[in-house]
Amino acid sequence: MDMHAPLTRERSAQTEQNSIAARPERFEWSDELPRYWFGGDPFRSHYMNALSILFPKGEEFFIDAVRALRHANEDARLDAAIRGFIGQEGWHRQAHLGYNNYLARQGMPVAALEGRIGARIEFVKDHLRPIRWLAATVCLEHFTAIMAHELLQRPDHLAQMPPHFRRLWVWHALEELEHKSVAFDLYVKAQGSYGMRVRTMLIVTFNFTLDILCNLLALLKTDGLLGKPGVWGSGVAFLFGPRRGLIWRLLPNYLRFFRPSFHPWDADDLDLIESANRDLNAGLLCVHPSS
Ligand SMILES: [Fe+2]
Ligand SMILES: [Fe+2]
Repeated sequence: MDMHAPLTRERSAQTEQNSIAARPERFEWSDELPRYWFGGDPFRSHYMNALSILFPKGEEFFIDAVRALRHANEDARLDAAIRGFIGQEGWHRQAHLGYNNYLARQGMPVAALEGRIGARIEFVKDHLRPIRWLAATVCLEHFTAIMAHELLQRPDHLAQMPPHFRRLWVWHALEELEHKSVAFDLYVKAQGSYGMRVRTMLIVTFNFTLDILCNLLALLKTDGLLGKPGVWGSGVAFLFGPRRGLIWRLLPNYLRFFRPSFHPWDADDLDLIESANRDLNAGLLCVHPSS
């Protein structure tokens, strides 16, 4: 897929702004679900679990940031997109609260890890102006968009997930792509600068990496896996493998953010959205908790 198709930007943004709507999904979290649900691999499963632990607090913050500056926009289409964004992130938050409760029942230190994130968000909200909350949201939405793009482009990975987890992650990834430019477009309307966007990205990249690492280490430690070379071998291959390592695949898309002319729809994800939507609607990713 051509990641840089400028002619599609306008069409994509328009499609997106007209069609963002939450798809309410409720997930049952059975304790019978496999612990190492991602291909039987502890590192990869806990990597995704580590992300899930970040979502409820993070997505609540995104909603607050967008609400705080919604008044800066007078465009009815963007306002409708903001409504869709808030609806989608609200449902994601609910789904990941259920996911994280399930992790807590498995003995994972979810409350402590969420507390760390919550404390940083409170600090940001107490000490920084709303335009900086929105800048951080723009940066984190870029991360979620490029990770969603990657997830939906990896049928080999999706095939290794039980339908319950596959449905949750495909549903979330699909909606992240649909609403990927909403915070960015509002940031532009609110006169957010390029300099602030880039400076914020450097800080967000550091914190986001640290947060994932911190959660991942805590989850592996809970399972007594920190000292297992096999787990780390698999993790290094997953993240840094020479051909298909996640970091190398994400890096070019991550770096696009630093262009002054960057817009989230520079990457045309419409085909991915369409095919994920089709799969979701066709019920191919069934929800059965023990499947
Ligand atoms: Fe989300
Ligand atoms: Fe999002």
